[in-house]
Amino acid sequence: MKYIFGNWKAYLDYDQSNILAHQLLDIQIPEGVAVVVFPTTLAVPEIEKTLQDTEVHVGAQNVHWAPSGAYTGASAAALFAQIGCAYALVGHSERRHIFGETDDAVRKKVEACIESNIAPIVCVGETKDERISGKAEYRVKKQLMKAFDGLELADDQQIFVAYEPVWAISKGGVGEVCLPEDAGEMLSLIKAELAKYSDRDIPLIYGGSVKPENMASYLALDLVSGVLPGHASTSAQSLSKMVNLIVS
Ligand code: PGA
Repeated sequence: MKYIFGNWKAYLDYDQSNILAHQLLDIQIPEGVAVVVFPTTLAVPEIEKTLQDTEVHVGAQNVHWAPSGAYTGASAAALFAQIGCAYALVGHSERRHIFGETDDAVRKKVEACIESNIAPIVCVGETKDERISGKAEYRVKKQLMKAFDGLELADDQQIFVAYEPVWAISKGGVGEVCLPEDAGEMLSLIKAELAKYSDRDIPLIYGGSVKPENMASYLALDLVSGVLPGHASTSAQSLSKMVNLIVS
């Protein structure tokens, strides 16, 4: 199975998000390909309904770990599960670096997803400074250890790890390119690290300025089971281009 996880971030407003969802009604998803889109939270319930009879799945960009309680402004993993979401991004670098999400919070969110039958896509990756100062591997290892050490996974629980070098994530579609061979090196390390915590073959995803023009170069890596485009997933044209390219 190959995966395309389209993270719409906060690029689209409510109406634009719904228009894009309606455009996706026409996309043919080939066998062996899974497509999940992650709209802005307020649009998720409506888009989930729009796409419920299609092969395009809808996920959460962020979840809160406690199922309910005195947590102003929080939307629980359980709540997303209740409206039909089966996937969630967890620990995206923008959550970590802009909103101060810690490794401990990421772990709680991973557990909350598992309890709610949601497949978490655990995002890891180093900053530019960490890469330059030789701390990239340390950072990624630590993020993985915090998320996976002692984590109980049922046989049928889906979980993914996305390697997203923070410095390669675009702002508005413009980002620094992480060469596929550099991504491949880190993905090998991730695979080896994950083997310490789980005997499951956890699918690995690459994200960071993925677009139709370069997607194939990442998918050509043996260890890559899918991609996580942000900006390039916010138009029906480029998203469907990627869906079509994934099988050709
Ligand atoms: P980008 O975003 O494709 O716009 O770089 C990827 C991501 O942050 O998930």
